[in-house]
Amino acid sequence: MPKSWIKRRKREHYYRKAKEEKYRSRAAYKLLQAVRKYKFIKEGDVIVDLGAAPGGWIQAARKIVGEKGFILGVDLKEIEPFEEENVLTIVGDITKDKTVKIIEELLPRPADAVISDVSPKISGIWEVDHARQIDLAEQSLKIAEMILKPRGNFFVKAFEGDLLPDFIRKMRRRFGKVRVIKPPASRAKSSEIYILGMRLKSTLD
Ligand SMILES: C[S@@+](CC[C@H](N)C(=O)[O-])C[C@H]1O[C@@H](n2cnc3c(N)ncnc32)[C@H](O)[C@@H]1O
Repeated sequence: MPKSWIKRRKREHYYRKAKEEKYRSRAAYKLLQAVRKYKFIKEGDVIVDLGAAPGGWIQAARKIVGEKGFILGVDLKEIEPFEEENVLTIVGDITKDKTVKIIEELLPRPADAVISDVSPKISGIWEVDHARQIDLAEQSLKIAEMILKPRGNFFVKAFEGDLLPDFIRKMRRRFGKVRVIKPPASRAKSSEIYILGMRLKSTLD
């Protein structure tokens, strides 16, 4: 069976499943698969989702945190509002201090987890896209360090490439446990990868 055929089948599988289960994006499965394995989000948690449009991860996270949790989604683009009272979304650029200030103001308490699927517009020039993705991952980490509770968790998208090992080293200095994850719903061929940091260390650790 040709590999391209298997890949297309897999892509179509998650696309159809998302449609049937009313998720706004296939991306929802990447988060669900990673949480199922590593349990970094749980019922009642406060979650900040960076780069959240159109909202697939928000839906997946809401399913896990339930009614007692809280989710704040942030994106450059407007996110179609959710009916659930404990889901808020704002339009904002995560590289701007102003946005970080608004996030802090809206949170009921320090976040249990920060999740970031933020990605730049793809230029097609591999080095450029890789560098931009790592910049956004670094910015997400900076925000996570500001808004996470001690021992909170952080899950972030990156692209494989020569800047990735440095980023992973930085994550290892900041979190008790770090894992590099390729969820089954992520295309095998893409260089997309997720880094999970569990148990943010306090500055005294
Ligand atoms: C892959 S999509 C996220 C998909 C989302 N996780 C879902 O499940 O629906 C990446 C998002 O990052 C957003 N983004 C890119 N740069 C950003 C920035 N500087 N600030 C906020 N959002 C940004 C894009 O607008 C885009 O919606």
